[in-house]
Amino acid sequence: MRIGILGAGQMAEALGSGWARAGHEVMVGARSPEKARKLAEAIGSGARGGDLRAAAAHGEALLLAVPALSVGGILTEVGAADGALAGRTLIDCTNAYEPDAFTNAPNSFLLAEAAVAERVAGLAPGAGVVKAFNVCAAEVWTSHAGRGLGVPLCGDDERAVEVVAGLVSDLGFDPVRAGGLSRARYLEAVSVFVVGLWFAGYDARQMLPPLQEAFAHSDA
Ligand SMILES: NC(=O)c1ccc[n+]([C@@H]2O[C@H](COP(=O)([O-])OP(=O)(O)OC[C@H]3O[C@@H](n4cnc5c(N)ncnc54)[C@H](OP(=O)(O)O)[C@@H]3O)[C@@H](O)[C@H]2O)c1
Repeated sequence: MRIGILGAGQMAEALGSGWARAGHEVMVGARSPEKARKLAEAIGSGARGGDLRAAAAHGEALLLAVPALSVGGILTEVGAADGALAGRTLIDCTNAYEPDAFTNAPNSFLLAEAAVAERVAGLAPGAGVVKAFNVCAAEVWTSHAGRGLGVPLCGDDERAVEVVAGLVSDLGFDPVRAGGLSRARYLEAVSVFVVGLWFAGYDARQMLPPLQEAFAHSDA
């Protein structure tokens, strides 16, 4: 599949490397095409680099791998408002973290915005927006393949969700179909909440019982 990546940072590198190795045609796009080309070179496996518009035009599936605050400008630049991304799968991995001014603790975050993925869908008419890959750190996507890690997906466009499920599997993770785009805001909240636990030294998995024990048994 042709995959366009908007952004040339940590998430672009982590996910782009895995997809390129899996045989996908990856093109990285950034506001600095030179930086995008350098990252593409580091990714290897035939990955290419260019500007944001070129990467957007290339991808049947697109990964939005930029700060949440910049998605509006970037989607405008690639013509999303005019329908340039219609029919494409648009993966949103962003988190709108901001420092928690109340506690002022280092590594303590809140969300600056409650529902980035829903805003992205509004900015890209016709695109199949799927929230994915936002919960774990970039390095997890390169180090935990094949270890049964689930990747929750939220999106309204079933075809796009299936595309992303395939891309999750290609990286060695397990797709978890977690509902429509209106639930993506919960994934965004899960991310900031769980990251807070991790920074505080807790294993977030400790909060959750196994599936078989998630609900009380009936007396019948
Ligand atoms: N890193 C993680 O562990 C992680 C995990 C889950 C989700 N996320 C989310 O994934 C997204 C990307 O994170 P990242 O860690 O890959 O970030 P990053 O390493 O800082 O890279 C961000 C990319 O976005 C570009 N960018 C920033 N502002 C821009 C603007 N106004 N216009 C155009 N391009 C702009 C940067 O370009 P320049 O290089 O030119 O500045 C860079 O290519 C964020 O929303 C983050 O919350 C990150």
